[in-house]
Amino acid sequence: MASSTDTTPTDTAADGVRRRDFIEIAAVATAGVGGIFALLPLVSQMAPSKDVLAASTTELDISALEPGQAIKAEFRKQPVFVRYLTDAEIAEANAVDVGSLRDAQTLAERTQPGHEHILVVMGVCTHLGCVPLGAAEGEVKGEYGGYFCPCHGSHYDTAARIRKGPAPTNLEVPEYTFTSDTTIVIG
Ligand code: FES
Repeated sequence: MASSTDTTPTDTAADGVRRRDFIEIAAVATAGVGGIFALLPLVSQMAPSKDVLAASTTELDISALEPGQAIKAEFRKQPVFVRYLTDAEIAEANAVDVGSLRDAQTLAERTQPGHEHILVVMGVCTHLGCVPLGAAEGEVKGEYGGYFCPCHGSHYDTAARIRKGPAPTNLEVPEYTFTSDTTIVIG
């Protein structure tokens, strides 16, 4: 994957939309039960049984993701956001006095060593469960540049930490692993 220092998003908005289409198509889900391995486009996921669902993982190819971009995927039937943070977004997150936060966490605690520029969070507002805006092209990101929940006005920062509004905690970081520099397995 290109590092945040040698890749600069230079595409037009139209190109961005096309790339996003590609990224969403590239996002696949894997149901890993009993050796059954299925790669399915998100738009046509089959409905697995509850047992399969509980044991499922989501594998994402993030090789096309560039700084400043995010993708929406699905993990156990819930939205998950993967964002490639820019250097500015990382600096903004790290400049915050963690002690002043409602749910005190550093960006480093919410990412993985060696992959601090990739932020993976559940796209489920911790207030009452709406899906926040900010992952898709052109969506409002709120006052702190991360995610914004339009249901009751919760604002999350670039580390997806709650900064304003009724949500009690940060957007949840699910368990996930990097199986390569450009592949994430969630769950
Ligand atoms: S559900 Fe998000 S602010 Fe209420």
